[in-house]
Amino acid sequence: MIIVTGATGKLGQAIVERLLTNLPSDQVGVSVRDPEKAYALQAQGVRVRKGDFGDRESLHQAFEGASQVLIISSNSAGEVAVQYHRNAIEAAKAAGARRVLYTSHMGANPASPFAPMCDHAATEEILKTSDIAFTSLRNGFYSDSGLMLMGDAFKTGKIIAPEDGPVSWTTHADLAEAAVITLTNYNRLDGLTPPLTAREALDLDAIAEVASTLTGREITRVTVTDEEFRSTLISGGLPEMRADLLTGLFAASRKGEFAAVDSTLSSLLGRPPMSMRDLIVSRLSKLTQ
Ligand SMILES: NC(=O)c1ccc[n+]([C@@H]2O[C@H](COP(=O)([O-])OP(=O)(O)OC[C@H]3O[C@@H](n4cnc5c(N)ncnc54)[C@H](OP(=O)(O)O)[C@@H]3O)[C@@H](O)[C@H]2O)c1
Repeated sequence: MIIVTGATGKLGQAIVERLLTNLPSDQVGVSVRDPEKAYALQAQGVRVRKGDFGDRESLHQAFEGASQVLIISSNSAGEVAVQYHRNAIEAAKAAGARRVLYTSHMGANPASPFAPMCDHAATEEILKTSDIAFTSLRNGFYSDSGLMLMGDAFKTGKIIAPEDGPVSWTTHADLAEAAVITLTNYNRLDGLTPPLTAREALDLDAIAEVASTLTGREITRVTVTDEEFRSTLISGGLPEMRADLLTGLFAASRKGEFAAVDSTLSSLLGRPPMSMRDLIVSRLSKLTQ
């Protein structure tokens, strides 16, 4: 049985939906914090068990009988996140899984100014010494995060953010499909994968141009300092830790940490991944509402 964690989150849900088009539902299990939220999966015959990364006993029960476990990285930060991932890796091993898959990031790096990259790097170190076969899916930067960084640009005509660098924006749907291909083909992708990215890296200047062309309305890029950006986030009610985290994202992108473009994702999918341009086209009516 393939067990997927985080199946009530965006990526996990997309992965399980796609897995169910490849495998009978009795070969798929999910480990979720709140089983009630996974009611629809249970109704389709998926085994739903409660599994919280902070509660090892729950993971042992949720991973029982696993042939592979896909650990969707938690949305916590720092040591807590790394300990969560350690708990999940150990539980997968204890359950006798032959392989663990982990959703890492193209920018995993212990020295990154963007804190989640350090957590991914620390988790990969645990995987390397865990004595279990593993695949660390180094996912490209979510295109949805790019749209989030644009803020209200489609309404205000302005993208206000610190200086940035090019980023390989990649959709949840394409990354979910790649995860399923990897889960269902045991020999595809082993260890740390190459960056799983779409085919171009765009900075916010380039996204502003694309958005202007598509909407027929000028969307300009306004550059602010890191400190101005951070203060605006905090005065808008964001906790300091979260504001620091988001500001660090820009520092990391300026260093080119998310600029790599790689063909592995296209090869896995057998088609070009969705570009940022096509994603904006597909959401245009909603974005401009
Ligand atoms: N590649 C990128 O650019 C990028 C960008 C942002 C985030 N990420 C990473 O990718 C992950 C998946 O993305 P997403 O969009 O699917 O995020 P999401 O919708 O926030 O999903 C995160 C999932 O993790 C689960 N989770 C959190 N804490 C947990 C715990 N203690 N025990 C068990 N499960 C726990 C959540 O459970 P609930 O459903 O119960 O809340 C949720 O299902 C994120 O969590 C983050 O680590 C990557």
